[in-house]
Amino acid sequence: MRTQVGIIGAGPAGLLLSHLLAQHGISSIILESRSREEIESTIRAGVLEQGTVDLLTQTGLAERLLREGHVHHGIELRFGNQGHRIDLSGLTDGKAITVYAQHEVIKDLVKARLDAGGQILFDATDVRLDGLESTAPTVHFRQGTKFQSIACDFVAGCDGFHGISRPSIPAALKTEYERKYEFGWFGILVEAPPSSKELIYASHERGFALVSTRSDTVQRLYFQCDPKDAVANWPDERIWEELDLRLASDDGWRVKQGRIFQKGIIAMRSFVVEPLQYGRLFLAGDAAHIVPPTGAKGLNLAVADVKVLAQALDRHYSAGHNEALERYSETVLRRIWRSEHFSWWMTSMLHRFPDGDPIQRRFQLAELRNVTTSHAAATMLAENYVGLPMV
Ligand code: FAD
Ligand code: DHB
Repeated sequence: MRTQVGIIGAGPAGLLLSHLLAQHGISSIILESRSREEIESTIRAGVLEQGTVDLLTQTGLAERLLREGHVHHGIELRFGNQGHRIDLSGLTDGKAITVYAQHEVIKDLVKARLDAGGQILFDATDVRLDGLESTAPTVHFRQGTKFQSIACDFVAGCDGFHGISRPSIPAALKTEYERKYEFGWFGILVEAPPSSKELIYASHERGFALVSTRSDTVQRLYFQCDPKDAVANWPDERIWEELDLRLASDDGWRVKQGRIFQKGIIAMRSFVVEPLQYGRLFLAGDAAHIVPPTGAKGLNLAVADVKVLAQALDRHYSAGHNEALERYSETVLRRIWRSEHFSWWMTSMLHRFPDGDPIQRRFQLAELRNVTTSHAAATMLAENYVGLPMV
């Protein structure tokens, strides 16, 4: 097999890259280790930045998203049993976020690629990259009992944090920056109507809690937990008790309960590899960086990376210019580090640090009062939350 760009991973990064390249007339083949059913049903992110929605709209991918997604113009920060609204749209010249589940984005992207004759090879295992320092790299893989290879001009490593692309860069040629957090998130999906018109980020002495949504009948809730805890330790009654405590509000508001049909625990880390290029291999999305989910940035960063990468590859193929490709890593790292910092800042402001001393909580409350009373501080939060320009 031969293609111009071999793409490893059919997550948001790999699928969108393939779509954007096709719009520039550049061929690609996506290799995905899981099945189509699996990638279309994995529950993950839910918040799309304005720039992500704009890009999906401009490239013909947003028909269902615009119909079924929920546009939110603000979020609530809740602490001291009181809610404080951050007017996202009022503080950012009308920008907003859209709540639309990541696996719905995946379904839309897979359908768009396959309808356009794009190639996605599912259940492709034992992927191995070869000749990355040459101008003709090869991707080797296995489907069932059949070993195959793809000759390419470039390889895009879009295979997430646990993929094989980043480890294909020699250790001496990369630097990895990492922070692990001593807490994680317990996430649930609930059959219930929305509890609130906007997302609620709650900072409580017992720990963080987040009220999000999926539809008029399904809600998404998270609360801070020990990342080593087990789902089995959290029967439904204990979950509702904890959420009630952390989300308590002086105005008598209570979270709407319902049948919990999915539970999971997510560990949290900040991670960046530099650079995102090695020869003809370019990393994008979670393969290159991870943020703790508090700022809702991961999926959006993956989108921003591949937008820049697709433009740079287009410059190569349409004009023979390689400067944009050579600058790819430097270009995307500026936005990556801004999002990394924002996600760390939101996380630090809102979570309970298990071994935090009393002064830590006082600092958090001072910060929360600052962002909910200072126009400048609220604007900083809003600008980052709705998303900075994607270059
Ligand atoms: P992935 O989605 O991880 O896709 C990588 C793909 O590569 C996978 O399909 C995988 O199967 C495949 N793969 C892996 N290894 C190989 C291999 N060796 N060979 C072939 N294929 C391989 N982000 C937001 O922006 N907003 C949010 O609200 C948000 N909330 C989140 C909530 C949770 C609970 C979690 C877990 C994450 C959240 N994120 C959020 C982060 C977001 O989900 C990720 O940043 C996003 O999925 C990154 O996309 P990606 O394409 O880079 O990687
Ligand atoms: C969701 C996830 C997030 O990480 C976040 O900050 C807000 C909402 C969600 O899954 O709905």
